[in-house]
Amino acid sequence: MLGAVPAPCRAPIFLPDALERPALVRELLERTAPHFPVQRYFKSGAEMRAQSGPAALIIAPNFRADWATADSRVEGIEFFLENPRFIQAAARLFESDLVRPWGVYSNITWQLPFDQGGGHTDVPAFVGVDRRRYPTWLLSVMGHSRLFEKERVEIATAVAWFYRGKDGGFSYWPDGPDRPPRLHEGDLFNTAIMGDNDRMYHRVRPVGARKDGMLSGMTLETRLEYDGGDDWAIREAGETRARMRFDALRISVSWKGYVYRDAEQRRRHESEVGALDLDQVVDRFDSDLTARGIRFQAPADPLHDEAFVEVLTHAYVREPTVLAVTAPAQPAPPPPLGSASLRASLASKPEGGSS
Ligand SMILES: [Fe+2]
Repeated sequence: MLGAVPAPCRAPIFLPDALERPALVRELLERTAPHFPVQRYFKSGAEMRAQSGPAALIIAPNFRADWATADSRVEGIEFFLENPRFIQAAARLFESDLVRPWGVYSNITWQLPFDQGGGHTDVPAFVGVDRRRYPTWLLSVMGHSRLFEKERVEIATAVAWFYRGKDGGFSYWPDGPDRPPRLHEGDLFNTAIMGDNDRMYHRVRPVGARKDGMLSGMTLETRLEYDGGDDWAIREAGETRARMRFDALRISVSWKGYVYRDAEQRRRHESEVGALDLDQVVDRFDSDLTARGIRFQAPADPLHDEAFVEVLTHAYVREPTVLAVTAPAQPAPPPPLGSASLRASLASKPEGGSS
């Protein structure tokens, strides 16, 4: 059984040693280059705002590599996807040993000397409504609304860092968006935080110094390319915009696993028996918005109606209100594992995307 969700989210678990062989991450980054800007993963500005809050993002030197998703896995990703340290920490965090890893993606940032957004939560999943068929903005809004907790499928997220710089840390709000965040920064390499990141707000700290500026004029076609050895470059249509050494790239890799409360929930999620459908989702939003006195035009096509996205975003999506860090730096490492056997059943068919 899953443990009850303490408000506002489960307390994250700090892992001082994320991987047995962290050098494999660098190999994978090189092998899967080039990498593209993270904004390629959003379908519209409205979708981006629904997930990231009202501050529209410009295209910055922040690249993304999807290594395990609903549709594909890169060769050799098992060391990360099936890492027993993540699986065990997820089981501990959610108090259930039915952990099914499904997602791995990397974020690669170069000289982005600003906080990345105002703090966000990741994309949740629900029985019948997940990213196999529905846009991520809808899932995010459903999660924020807390109107679909009964149908929610818990997702454990580990963020692991492979960067030796002293900047580019991680702010997170385990006490909720209206309390001070905590900060993990300064000695990040091969550490990880396992969290309830669909409920726990978080964001990436500035990378590099403001005096060094930030590369501008990037587009969705800009590529981060590997040139061999320690050398990387940002190029646009064959023109080199910047060159950098590997150590200047701030690397984080996110791992995601479903955590089921029992075998029945897993069966329902995988088979979608008795699952939510879009009409039910819209009806539930409709009832709640109406009860709250929020007027809106019923959407003819809810998945492609930008005005409806805006209404839902305004009604349910919020950002942290307290940004100053005053709390201790990071959660304590977990105690040693007991004798509980942890059944990590791996998916024969991966699903989901990444966030
Ligand atoms: Fe996130």
